[in-house]
Amino acid sequence: MALETETDSIVQQFEYSDNDVNKAVKEFLRQADEGLEKDGTSLSQIPTYVTAVPNGTEKGLYMAVDLGGTNFRVCSIQLLGDGTFSHTYNKVAVPKNLMVAKKAEDLFAFLAQEIKKFLEEHHSEDFEHHIRRRMTVSSPDGFRDEHIFRMGFTFSFPVKQVGINKGTLIRWTKGFDIPDAIDKDVCALLQAEIDKLHLPIKVAALVNDTVGTLMARSYAAPGKNGSVLGAIFGTGTNGAYVEKLSKLKKPLAGDYDQSTGEMVINTEWGSFDNQLNVLPTTKWDASLEKDSLNPGFQMYEKRVSGMFLGEILRLVVVELLNNPEVSFFKDENSSSNDRGSVTIISRDSGLFKQWGLDTAIMSTAELDQDPELTGLRQALENNLHVYAPAYEDALAFKKVAHAIGRRAARLSAVAIGAIVLQTGKLNDKDVTEEDPIDIGVDGSLVEHYPGFRPMIYEALRAIDGIGEEGAKRIRIGLTQDGSGVGAALIALVAAGMEKNANAEYIGELRSTSKAAAATDGSADEKATNSD
Ligand code: BGC
Repeated sequence: MALETETDSIVQQFEYSDNDVNKAVKEFLRQADEGLEKDGTSLSQIPTYVTAVPNGTEKGLYMAVDLGGTNFRVCSIQLLGDGTFSHTYNKVAVPKNLMVAKKAEDLFAFLAQEIKKFLEEHHSEDFEHHIRRRMTVSSPDGFRDEHIFRMGFTFSFPVKQVGINKGTLIRWTKGFDIPDAIDKDVCALLQAEIDKLHLPIKVAALVNDTVGTLMARSYAAPGKNGSVLGAIFGTGTNGAYVEKLSKLKKPLAGDYDQSTGEMVINTEWGSFDNQLNVLPTTKWDASLEKDSLNPGFQMYEKRVSGMFLGEILRLVVVELLNNPEVSFFKDENSSSNDRGSVTIISRDSGLFKQWGLDTAIMSTAELDQDPELTGLRQALENNLHVYAPAYEDALAFKKVAHAIGRRAARLSAVAIGAIVLQTGKLNDKDVTEEDPIDIGVDGSLVEHYPGFRPMIYEALRAIDGIGEEGAKRIRIGLTQDGSGVGAALIALVAAGMEKNANAEYIGELRSTSKAAAATDGSADEKATNSD
């Protein structure tokens, strides 16, 4: 009984009411406007220099790489011009020692090596073409070490972008920490390492994963009005949306095409409300914060994204374990364990280590509707080494996990709802009632956490200015190709922007590569990015 009462009181502390949601939406809109006006605000509102979303007719062969979490992905993408594409990719885990390396070069040299391996494996002919061309083709400026591939670099950390392929790192997130890279141009860092290996690649575009998601969504599912928002709810969280240039008041450093009157803005909403004006803070949020790598930053992300939800749950569980008033995973009273065996927590259980509870178990808990919670109890044994957990304990675990996940989903609705209101599309006379307000999302939470999207919708319906009717018009669709196709599309935009006297020369090289790639269909497969 004591456990049940204690659990209910914990669940209560993660409640996030409709009223809270509305208050937060107002504050989000205020901080969003502030970010459009000046630099240095908590919601960074970073201009991306991307001024249009695709319509599905784009074509060509591009490369894309993706660094943003536990894995580094390298791919080549053939855009087929009809909203479809073919895709070849390699994926490798980023070694932990490079995530917290001394020098930026250590990490970027590793990335370049992986790109080299990919080219050797999947585009070996391009190497030869490249070398041959260099020997035989001249440009107006003489022989040139011309690059064949335009590459989109998906780099999913806060970057101050100053051009389509230029941007300095503001800070690391998601467990990376290489102080040497701060304030450096990450495209230049990667290009330098690529050049050391003499690879035929130009880093043509710097892409946040949310921007890639927005582009990929617009390419594959173009509506009359395109998509308005690309968002990630995975290891980290963030969103990029299409904003009117007239609302972007802060000065822009680089060149960009003004003809569309719009620009994609990377909100970096992970840092929404770093000042904690409206975000909910339980004692477990405070404890996570105290021991985090970046205290004071990414305050919204720390309550919403996959990297942190498991840790919040772990902190609650540890508190329950240490509470002498309740019996939790202790089995002082073995008769309360329907399995009739003693509950034992192994000393090596992840429960006793920071980050030791993988958020994935929250999905298992949510999914398990079995009257005996068999699946969850199995997962507690297999993943957390809690042997023979009682039903009551598993139920308490499930309730707390649900409360944390539900708060995260409702907080996610704050950002989504605020951006929908910011775009003004619900009241735009050119957008008819039948036109969906289209949003592309990616990441482990939206992909794997049962009921995450329905919980988002429930909160959207409660937002003033959206309501039942507005929520019906908002279409949130899973879009998993942001870091590949999305990045390729931006590389394509970038290639169009290059004032290159040599355009035809590059075009010729590219069609050669295209022909080579067309014969290399063996490794084509669909991406499964679960970061
Ligand atoms: C980063 C964003 C990124 C998001 C999702 C955050 O930690 O700051 O740039 O878009 O994670 O990957």
